[in-house]
Amino acid sequence: MKINGLNVLEIGPKEKKAIIFLHGFPYNWRMWEKQIERLSKKYRCVAYDIRGLGESEIGDGQYTMEGFVEDLMTIVSELGLEKPAICGLSMGGYISLRALEKYEEKFGAAILCDTRSNADDDNAKLRRQNGIIKINKEGVESFVKEFVPNTFGDLFKQENKEEYERWLNLCSSSNSIGVKGCLLAMLGRTDTTSYLPKINLPVLVLCGSYDALTPPEYMRDMSAKIKNSEFASVPRAGHMSPIENSDFVSDAIEGFLDRRF
Ligand code: MLT
Repeated sequence: MKINGLNVLEIGPKEKKAIIFLHGFPYNWRMWEKQIERLSKKYRCVAYDIRGLGESEIGDGQYTMEGFVEDLMTIVSELGLEKPAICGLSMGGYISLRALEKYEEKFGAAILCDTRSNADDDNAKLRRQNGIIKINKEGVESFVKEFVPNTFGDLFKQENKEEYERWLNLCSSSNSIGVKGCLLAMLGRTDTTSYLPKINLPVLVLCGSYDALTPPEYMRDMSAKIKNSEFASVPRAGHMSPIENSDFVSDAIEGFLDRRF
């Protein structure tokens, strides 16, 4: 279905507690497909494509993190989700953290996967800007072919070549205005670290053991700043842990929600 120009998917019993999934960049909701397949047996699962990516509208590409949060809250309110659990990976985690900072009372639990609370430092800002220059000069495919390989661990790339290439091709077909808009929104996001000790919800922090972008040591520290949090390292996985070790991530989320949500 479409809500406010966004491609939204809903699977599972409507009367059950809800989980809303937010994907990473430059992917689409399908990166959570395996977890949704499992969790939709007992939870109302909602996932959507973030504006500019997947099958959501591109618009003018002038995105901000605040705008992404408002998109999320529109879906929560249009579907009448009562204190859903929020589950975000990387860019989806940036949106989740800012949404919690602004509207924690609207949520019942959080899963933060391969993400970070700090904003971009100058080097990261410059990398994003150079990414935009690259897209303008060479096209989105050239940017994706440089960016996406870092999001998977080497083991997965070696052992699951076909699946890895399928994701690479899917991301390569992204819309360049959408991808550039997301880069600018991430570059301009605020730092949510000072909010971590104020979170009162149960939180699960997950991180691929080979994640090179948001490393386990960083995420373990992040988790330690949150009172009610649990940390788990996802074995044999890089930054795209829900794809790379889907069973482990599904088990961890299911166990956490069954116990604490
Ligand atoms: C993601 O997976 O969403 C990206 O790695 C986030 C980022 O580039 O900061």
